[in-house]
Amino acid sequence: MKGYRRRPNKGMPFRGSPGPGKVSGAGAIIRTLLWLVAIACVVGGALVYSVARRGLSAHDEPSWPERTLAGAMRRLAVPRALRTQQNPLEPTEAVLEEALAHYADDCAVCHANDGSGNTAMGRGLYPRVPDMRAAATQSLSDGELFSIIEHGIRLTGMPAWGTGTPESERQSWSLVHFIRRLPTLSPGDLTRLEELSPRTPAELREREAIRRFLEGDPGDSPAVPPSQRQED
Ligand code: HEC
Repeated sequence: MKGYRRRPNKGMPFRGSPGPGKVSGAGAIIRTLLWLVAIACVVGGALVYSVARRGLSAHDEPSWPERTLAGAMRRLAVPRALRTQQNPLEPTEAVLEEALAHYADDCAVCHANDGSGNTAMGRGLYPRVPDMRAAATQSLSDGELFSIIEHGIRLTGMPAWGTGTPESERQSWSLVHFIRRLPTLSPGDLTRLEELSPRTPAELREREAIRRFLEGDPGDSPAVPPSQRQED
């Protein structure tokens, strides 16, 4: 009876077979591909489910995976040479002053004068306008900030400001200097930004009326434009 006993895995493998415990190269590739397809189906399914349940409202906060993925994609999108480039402009008074005016004109409407992002636009956009004084922005390299300003960020509210000219590049580098200054803006800087923020003619008239009212003319009311009052 001895001869009938089977001893698994002890015999010689067939010639050309992978041997015990091994999978052929093609088999391994197919298995990996099947895993990738399965993972893609699960992730895709979860995304579809989440959109169907929660909608695409800009009121929500971006989830952690969304933020991480978007951040990684953004980093990849900036060429390495640019990522490591230092700001070629000297942060002279003139450069910073020009950047402050530019920021007040084009950026503060979303990013707020103090860089906090605390504006009606900033709070309503998805993804949110970040607080640029915080480490997440300040830890970006000069080149990354430059690239974001020049080229914008696709699928977000951040516009591309570059026109491909040396002048626009110079302006973007000067804005990089200004962003570095956001965490330490002085009250004087904030007043200058406030003064330089663009306003509609109606808002300007109302501000002027309020200023005159505060200067002591008791008959003046901010609700009545000064031009009409003079005819009374
Ligand atoms: C219409 C609104 C809007 C305007 C105007 C705007 N931005 Fe942005 N900006 C955004 C949004 C939204 C983001 C966030 C994008 C994201 O989450 O990837 C952003 C992101 C950025 C970032 C990246 C910060 C970070 O930590 O990710 C920089 C730098 C920046 N903006 C600079 C500027 C400058 C400089 C200007 C003016 C020249 C400007 N932005 C004008 C909406 C705006």
